[in-house]
Amino acid sequence: MGPAELMPPELPQFEWARVDAGQRIATKRLQSSNWAQAVEGGIDSSHVSFLHSSLNQAQTGMIAGVPQQAVAPGSSGSNPSFAQQGRTMAIDKSPRFWIGHRDFGFLAAARRNAGEDQYYWRITPYLAPWYTIIPGGGQEGSSLSGHAWVPVDDEHVWTFTFTWNPTRPITDEERATHLKGFGVHTEVDKDLPRWDLKISNSYSPIRNMNNNYMVDYEERRKRTFTGIKGISEQDMSIQESMWPIVPRWKEHLGTTDKAIIEFRKLVMGMARDLLEGNEPEFPHTPDAYKVRSAAITIDRSVPWEDGSAEVVKARA
Ligand SMILES: [Fe+2]
Repeated sequence: MGPAELMPPELPQFEWARVDAGQRIATKRLQSSNWAQAVEGGIDSSHVSFLHSSLNQAQTGMIAGVPQQAVAPGSSGSNPSFAQQGRTMAIDKSPRFWIGHRDFGFLAAARRNAGEDQYYWRITPYLAPWYTIIPGGGQEGSSLSGHAWVPVDDEHVWTFTFTWNPTRPITDEERATHLKGFGVHTEVDKDLPRWDLKISNSYSPIRNMNNNYMVDYEERRKRTFTGIKGISEQDMSIQESMWPIVPRWKEHLGTTDKAIIEFRKLVMGMARDLLEGNEPEFPHTPDAYKVRSAAITIDRSVPWEDGSAEVVKARA
């Protein structure tokens, strides 16, 4: 995009783009919200304790709408198992946030208590201008996932979701599970046209605002917070139903919104700079984009940036 003389010589070196095709899955859906509130959902870490939670999560650790196959094998070393992570997030619903500035954007680190001596950290990279990586992976053989939030117009976003495994091909069974749409990939109608948006194939989510995201009220009453199937649909239901463009003057941001505040400062700063003729630096640091998310426990005495430094490095 933009004038040829300003194009960076190299693309950002995303790990998901560097692995073999058999090691990744990519899907696409249309989201009916403003771009900024979609990205902000992607970098927020507090909502996981509520929106994606089940009512007995503190006991079972099971996150609502997650396929069994996505559950990582038993815990190893400093990487808590999937169920343990779920329990931790259900017990400590009040994470504290730290921001680490990087050449690609920032790391948003959310800290929860994990026993007497440790903290559980969920570290979400925001990669300018529109990529977020979901905290996870880290265990031997496990996959990571993230989103690219690409604006269509003021009230619509193309959400590209990608899952990649840095060390091995994704099995047919795993691929089928991801594409079923229970997790972060969304079930869509690929062929439904949206002439109002001048797009011929809208990749419209099957569970969407028009059908109230097919809420299962029995499920919501007894088991999960939303009764909505699929993590991305749960996210979408919140991001879309706050109005296509959320009235921000009504907001009262708090300490758990640190990442949101950082994102707004960063993109508005870039917009102001561009108005003055100063191009963003990000496209010229392609190697900075070799980054992963993290979901790890670290001793309380160890600063998060030290304890996570190796985990957040992409290796592929
Ligand atoms: Fe979410």
